[in-house]
Amino acid sequence: MNDPDPAAPAGGRCAAACLDRRSVLRSAALAGGAVTLAACGGSSNGSSNGSESSGPTTLGPVGEVPVGGGAVFPDANVVVAQPSDGSYVAYSATCTHQGCQVGEVVDGEIVCPCHGSHFATEDGAAVTGPATEPLPSAGQIRVESGKLVLT
Ligand code: FES
Repeated sequence: MNDPDPAAPAGGRCAAACLDRRSVLRSAALAGGAVTLAACGGSSNGSSNGSESSGPTTLGPVGEVPVGGGAVFPDANVVVAQPSDGSYVAYSATCTHQGCQVGEVVDGEIVCPCHGSHFATEDGAAVTGPATEPLPSAGQIRVESGKLVLT
């Protein structure tokens, strides 16, 4: 006999939450805050605890983000730029057009490989479409022992 586990999540329970993803991103962009989209990330990590901590995350060595440039940290889904010496900014690496992960930072602009949107490193604004919404902030960057730490 089949005994359904009442604690097990049913597949497809994400629909309502995912439908609201765009408005969450828009709200986050307006608030300049970080976004946590648990259960809609597309990966199946099997986590049974739906709460995510927003504690500090070490991204990598400061040398990966040159002055006037930036780098994508895919595992953290964050893009970090250094528009001016010692000033770091961090954005969600999820493109606001259709959700691809942005790919690289070229000539001071964050580039999405899917449809070619470009975002300004200074403020995340969409400078070349099709994206029209800015990349939302992913938090603050701190330098600790030569490493970039997202807080
Ligand atoms: Fe980034 Fe379309 S998903 S430009």
